[in-house]
Amino acid sequence: MKKLYICINLLILSMPIFQNNVISKLPRMGDSIFAVMSQMADEYEAINLSQGFPDFDISPELIGLVHKYMNEGKNQYAPMQGVPELRQAIADKFFEAHNVRYSPVTEINITAGATQALFTAITAFVREGDEVVIFEPAYDIYDPAVKLNGGILKYAALKHPDYTVNWDDVKKLISHKTRMIIINSPHNPTGSVLKKEDLEALAKITNNTDIIILSDEVYEHLIYDNIQHESVCCIPELLERSLVVGSFGKTFHATGWKMGYCLAPENLMTEFRKAHQFVVFACNTPVQYAIAEFLSDKENYVHLNEFYQRKRDYFVQLISKSRFKILPSSGTYFQLLDYSDFSDEKELDFAIRLTKEYKLASIPVSVFYHRPVNNKVLRFCFAKKEETLEKAAEILCKI
Ligand SMILES: Cc1ncc(COP(=O)(O)O)c(C=O)c1O
Repeated sequence: MKKLYICINLLILSMPIFQNNVISKLPRMGDSIFAVMSQMADEYEAINLSQGFPDFDISPELIGLVHKYMNEGKNQYAPMQGVPELRQAIADKFFEAHNVRYSPVTEINITAGATQALFTAITAFVREGDEVVIFEPAYDIYDPAVKLNGGILKYAALKHPDYTVNWDDVKKLISHKTRMIIINSPHNPTGSVLKKEDLEALAKITNNTDIIILSDEVYEHLIYDNIQHESVCCIPELLERSLVVGSFGKTFHATGWKMGYCLAPENLMTEFRKAHQFVVFACNTPVQYAIAEFLSDKENYVHLNEFYQRKRDYFVQLISKSRFKILPSSGTYFQLLDYSDFSDEKELDFAIRLTKEYKLASIPVSVFYHRPVNNKVLRFCFAKKEETLEKAAEILCKI
C-alpha cells in the first residue's frame, strides 16, 4: 500500500503543472486596426471608410453561378491545387495580360484569399533567422507572418508624400541572410504604383542571388490615369524567383468570399504546395467553379479601373474645397488625406476623434509602420456607393 502511494505521488510530481504562463510569439500585437476602427464605426454609428470593402452589391450573375454549381453538387473538397477550370482561366488571363504562360498544372494554386497565399508563401520559404525586406508603410499581414516563422524584418521606407522607393537604400538592407523581399503594387495603404523601372532596379540589386520576391498584386485591376499594372512576372530575371499573389475578393467586390491565388515557377510552387496542403488543404469548391466561368468573360473585369477611377475622382472632387490636402492615389481603392495644415494631433488620436465626434471612420497610416511615425495622414476607402461618399465628403468639408 505504501509503495503504491509513493508511486502515485511520484507520478503526480512528474506531471507538468500548467502555470498559465503563455509565452506569446507576437507579444506586442493587439487587435488589427481594421477590426478596431470598424467596431468603433459601428459603436458610434459612423460612416465606415476605414476597412477596405465595397458597400455595394456584387454581380448577380456571379451569385447565380455559385447557386448553379452548388445545385449541381459541387460541394465536396476541391483538389488541393484548386479546381482545374479556375487554374486554366487564370493561366489564360495572365497570358493575355502579360504574355507569360504559367502552367495550370504545376504553377498555379488557388488559396483562401490573398492573405492565405501570402502567409503560406512566407511559411514555405522563411526559416529561423532569415531576413525579409518589407516596405513601410506596409500592409499589416507581412510583419507578423514573417515573425511567426522566425524571420527577421528589415524595413525599407517609402518616401512620404509620394511613397516612392529609393532602391539604393533597399540595396543596403540586402545581405547573405536575405531570404525574401515583399513588394506590393498597387500599394495599400498609399495608392502608389511601382513602375517598370522600379522592377528593373529590383532585378538589378537582387541579380545573382537566391532572394525570393513575394509580389502582392491584389489591386492589379484597380489602377488609374492610364497607368499599366507592371507585374513582377514581366521581368524575366524576377519571374524565375517570384511568387505572384492575387485576390478575387478585390477583383469581384466580394471580399467576404476569401478567394485568391498564387502563381510561381514549378520549383517554388512545389514548396508552396507542401505548406498549403497543411494550412488549408483546399478552398471553397462552388465559388471556384463560379469564378472560373465568370472569369472567362473579360468584360467582367477589364472595366474595373474605369469604374473605380470614377469613384476616386468623384470623392476627390467632393472634398476638393475641404481643408485636407489630397495626396495622389494611382491605384487601390484608398485615398490618403493630409491634415497637417490644421492639426498637430497624432494620426490615431485624430482618427478616433473623427469617428467619435464627426462620425466618420478612417485608418491612421501610422499603424502601417513598426516605429512611431506622424505624417498626419489618414486612409479613406472610396469603394463605396455615391451616397456614402457624399455623406463622408460633407463631414470632411465641415472640419
Ligand atoms: C495589399 C493587400 N494584400 C492582401 C490583402 C488580402 O486579400 P484577401 O482579402 O484576398 O485575403 C489585402 C486586403 O485588404 C490587401 O490590401
